[in-house]
Amino acid sequence: MKLDVRKTAAAVAASATVASAAVAGKKIKKKTFCPICSVKKLANKVKISQCTETGYNNGVALTPPMGWSSWNLFRHKINEDLIKEIADAMVKSGLADCGYKYVNIDDCWQASSRDANGKLQCDKVNFPGGIKALADYVNSKGVKLGIYSSNGTHTCEDYPASLRHERIDAETFAEWGIEYFKYDFCHNVPISSLAPRIIAVSVADNDTGEVLARFEADKMKLKGMARIVPDEGCDTKMYVDGLDSGAGSIVVPFEASKAGEYLIHLDIRKDSRKGGKFTMVKVNGREEAHIYCPSRKNWTPEGKLMESVHLDEGMNTIELINPVGSRADSAAIQYKLMGRELKRATKKYAEANGTEEKPIVYSICEWGFNFPWRWGAEAGNLWRTTPDIGASWGSFLGIYERNIPLAKYACPGAWNDPDMLEVGNGNLTIDENIAHFSLWCMMCAPLILGNDVRKFIKEDGSVDTENKIYQILTNKTMIGINQDFLGVQCRREKFGIADVLVKPLENSKIAVCVFNKGSKEASVKLEFAKYAKLGYVNLPDKEYYNVHDVWADKHIENISNITAKVPRHGAKVYIVE
Ligand code: GLA
Repeated sequence: MKLDVRKTAAAVAASATVASAAVAGKKIKKKTFCPICSVKKLANKVKISQCTETGYNNGVALTPPMGWSSWNLFRHKINEDLIKEIADAMVKSGLADCGYKYVNIDDCWQASSRDANGKLQCDKVNFPGGIKALADYVNSKGVKLGIYSSNGTHTCEDYPASLRHERIDAETFAEWGIEYFKYDFCHNVPISSLAPRIIAVSVADNDTGEVLARFEADKMKLKGMARIVPDEGCDTKMYVDGLDSGAGSIVVPFEASKAGEYLIHLDIRKDSRKGGKFTMVKVNGREEAHIYCPSRKNWTPEGKLMESVHLDEGMNTIELINPVGSRADSAAIQYKLMGRELKRATKKYAEANGTEEKPIVYSICEWGFNFPWRWGAEAGNLWRTTPDIGASWGSFLGIYERNIPLAKYACPGAWNDPDMLEVGNGNLTIDENIAHFSLWCMMCAPLILGNDVRKFIKEDGSVDTENKIYQILTNKTMIGINQDFLGVQCRREKFGIADVLVKPLENSKIAVCVFNKGSKEASVKLEFAKYAKLGYVNLPDKEYYNVHDVWADKHIENISNITAKVPRHGAKVYIVE
């Protein structure tokens, strides 16, 4: 659906440009019909994005999120005062006005245990006012607060984390007024691809526990490889096997007199296979519950498992399945679960308090280990595509190389995340800082600052507009390229010592970036009409273009080409129309 909107917008923009050019009497190059070019252009168009209607769709991050995070520079040395000072500086310096809206607390905000109610709590020494009050403070300045946890038993710095605590943690974050959530992958425990062997499935009343229906193996519908195994060891003399790795599933019908919460009981046949087992309960195709079965001691042959599920009024189709065939399946299921809980929690909180819902930008951070670009758009708003960035040329170059081929997976609301910015950190030269920022803007990367933005405020309280890093980060034209509503990540059109990247923009414009990876100045000739032929852009095919050299802030009218002279480790960016 999004794709259609985008195509329509692009088509309207394209025809408008042609019309206005004609009115202005500009020369529009007459096209000769080239069937091969048309087919190529069509083929490319389809590849522009893989985003579909099944996206996460929480209504936020429709352009790449922008903000700041504590991790890159401050690591564990964080506290309430720092976060407040950063929020103040974001506003005072004008960064917030440029779009940098999220102030994100990364790892190390937590106390080392949950509270008496099982909720995550902050370290009371470093955050004496608590996170809710901090969110209120940050909000009062006009910016938003973000927080961090891990899809594991502990965070990367070994604090309590959210795996198997998804609901309570999502509700806690919603109560605190959090609007950005980064979900890491340290201490993850993958879901087993083994499924329990099932003797009977029952549906019971959620309040009284009364069993409303019970299905033994011969009364279940068995799909795929699921099969009945005769067994003298259990009372019913049989159980169902063949459910591992999504090979088969069990389906039972249940007519509910009213919609609501019910209990699903599983009678299982204990077995000696090592490790835990897992089954998912789907109701009418919806993922309703995850049932984990611990590794068993086999003193008795049978065991019981129970979870509550929501049933619809009328006939329900209840399916038991373990779809985990790989580590990537496991990660996708776990990340999607948290995504659903975040949406549920913000809605619940808003309804209970009569307030406007504050959707949470959901940032998946499993470092690109489980192909998150394949499932991330359904799970959340952005997904890390690489391991951690460092403040060095080699680090951001390597990350760029990994992120650039993933363009087709990004679209509004769903972004590849090559990690937070190191602009202004370490020993990056000014040209390297410019290149780093340019690449992230071209790649529709989230722009999450990692430097100490308090340094942009001088002692007398005024903004240090002469600061080169400040100038880079507040270059509104560059930010505009990143935030362009088409939301199309750049493609690499030329690969070499100097790469050429092309990003379609609204109103039939494009941004072209020349990125010099070499250790000497590079000279690259750009012929603009060539880019009009690319299937994924709407640049009109004509002889002369108006060009804006973004970093030099120079406009050049009516040119057909330009020779970009790019310093070592630097980048030049042009907007062409
Ligand atoms: C991982 C993440 C980083 C940061 C740290 C915090 O390494 O990839 O971005 O959040 O954990 O411990």
